[in-house]
Amino acid sequence: MRVIASANQKGGCGKTTTAINLASSLSSKGERVLLIDFDPQAHATMGLNIMPSDLEKSIYHVITPKDYQFLRIEDILVPIKDNFDLAPSSLILSAVEQELSGLEGRENRLFRAIQELKKTYDYVVIDCPPSIGHLCFNALRACEEVIIPIDMSLFSLRGVSKLLEIIILLKDKTGHDVKSRALITMYDRRTRYSRVVLEKVKTEFGDNVFETVIRYNIRLYVSGSQYVEPDGRYLTKDRGIY
Ligand SMILES: Nc1ncnc2c1ncn2[C@@H]1O[C@H](COP(=O)(O)OP(=O)(O)OP(=O)(O)O)[C@@H](O)[C@H]1O
Ligand SMILES: [Mg+2]
Repeated sequence: MRVIASANQKGGCGKTTTAINLASSLSSKGERVLLIDFDPQAHATMGLNIMPSDLEKSIYHVITPKDYQFLRIEDILVPIKDNFDLAPSSLILSAVEQELSGLEGRENRLFRAIQELKKTYDYVVIDCPPSIGHLCFNALRACEEVIIPIDMSLFSLRGVSKLLEIIILLKDKTGHDVKSRALITMYDRRTRYSRVVLEKVKTEFGDNVFETVIRYNIRLYVSGSQYVEPDGRYLTKDRGIY
């Protein structure tokens, strides 16, 4: 089982779009995939047409230390399509930041929760929130690889340095080593600015930048969608596929 997180502290850089489409493409190739929505905004959940308000339980109920809950990931799964399951999120997940404060083993909760899934899935993809706190730390502890989507802004690059510091801190504190790779998103090769940011990313990451660049797609932006079907159709805000 390969565990991959999509993380960057900067908001709106393409974390969720990357996580959903990576999970969906892997499942189309026959890999068994679990996507964990680990962001209280629940964009990955909604991006897959699942409304958090319709759900009684979510990843919060797996992660919370409150002993009246205690569900396993299997108990909260929503099947999306063949080989593709979602562990959905909802706003209440934000409470975990406080609930885990000062708790022994707080950074291991997601790691522990996915251990028993090793035989069930080939890939686990984790969509992280745009902040650095217990949720992000749990996601980094649970994964071996992190994809860092970088849109064409210098803020996005600043978010990266903070994330890289946390990865080093995690290694010092727990000995857990995470391999990080940058993914350029929303790239518009017509603009000089895009090319400048791309060069900066290459300088900072060296070989650890995906050669594949995700181009800016006006249809995705206007629709606010995060999900593109393999044939290029996408999910619109009113949740129909176009
Ligand atoms: N390649 C692209 N071209 C154009 N628009 C895109 C592209 N990728 C994502 N978007 C749009 O940008 C917005 C932000 O994308 P996304 O939700 O994936 O970012 P995020 O990093 O997960 O945001 P957050 O930090 O809030 O979780 C969405 O409305 C999405 O439709
Ligand atoms: Mg997101």
